[in-house]
Amino acid sequence: MNGTERAPAGELAVRAEDVVKHYDGGLVQALRGVHFSVHRGEMVAITGPSGSGKTTLLHLIGALDRPTSGRLEVLGRDLAHVRDLDALRGRELGFVFQLHYLIPNLTLRENVLLPTVPLRLPRTERRRKAAELLERVGLGHRVDFLPVKCSGGERQRAAVARALVNDPELLLADEPTGSVDSETGARILDLFSSLRDERGTTVIVITHNPEVAARCDRSLRIVDGRLLRPEGGEASE
Ligand SMILES: Nc1ncnc2c1ncn2[C@@H]1O[C@H](COP(=O)(O)OP(=O)(O)O)[C@@H](O)[C@H]1O
Ligand SMILES: [Mg+2]
Repeated sequence: MNGTERAPAGELAVRAEDVVKHYDGGLVQALRGVHFSVHRGEMVAITGPSGSGKTTLLHLIGALDRPTSGRLEVLGRDLAHVRDLDALRGRELGFVFQLHYLIPNLTLRENVLLPTVPLRLPRTERRRKAAELLERVGLGHRVDFLPVKCSGGERQRAAVARALVNDPELLLADEPTGSVDSETGARILDLFSSLRDERGTTVIVITHNPEVAARCDRSLRIVDGRLLRPEGGEASE
């Protein structure tokens, strides 16, 4: 999959079967049997109270951690059997973390470029792409700034640009609009939906913001480590 072709309709980007995650030897039951799927090209919100397991679920989908039990398929592959998780993460997934995690002594452009380092693209091409993405998130004037010189919202937008630099098939964003004003938040959402429309990118976005959730195709709500079924539906299957 090179990311430029659209996946066939109906194919799944994520399929979770009875996913359980415990921390501290079972003392913390962060996910208590979660079952759902997300189609390719869907934009799905994950909502729920603080501590309900949203970040845990996103990390499992992104193969940053393994479930205690259950099965997770991402982009057609069972994560338990993927040998090269780094390649999957580096080439097909994009992450926007809750804390932006920019490297403080690199400029915004250098931060955005970071995930492309293993891809062996020509340097000029990579630099052009980073600048173009920063432009797209409204940071064209901040390309050569260090993160410390930028506002929280600008850093968050730079983190979004970084997540997109590898043209991911699946974008996982943990509260990407949490620390930004509503105009910036709307802009980030515009970018996500245009990627979905233009490239068929699948987007899973954790949010507390009902306006963000309303702009997604559908919402999954987690409470206390379990998915709530939407009213009157089978839903999350
Ligand atoms: N690495 C960890 N070790 C122990 N407990 C954790 C860890 N990460 C998260 N938790 C706990 O798991 C539960 C779910 O956390 P999290 O997935 O971060 O929730 P949310 O993102 O919905 O706020 C919480 O009780 C949290 O304290
Ligand atoms: Mg969280």
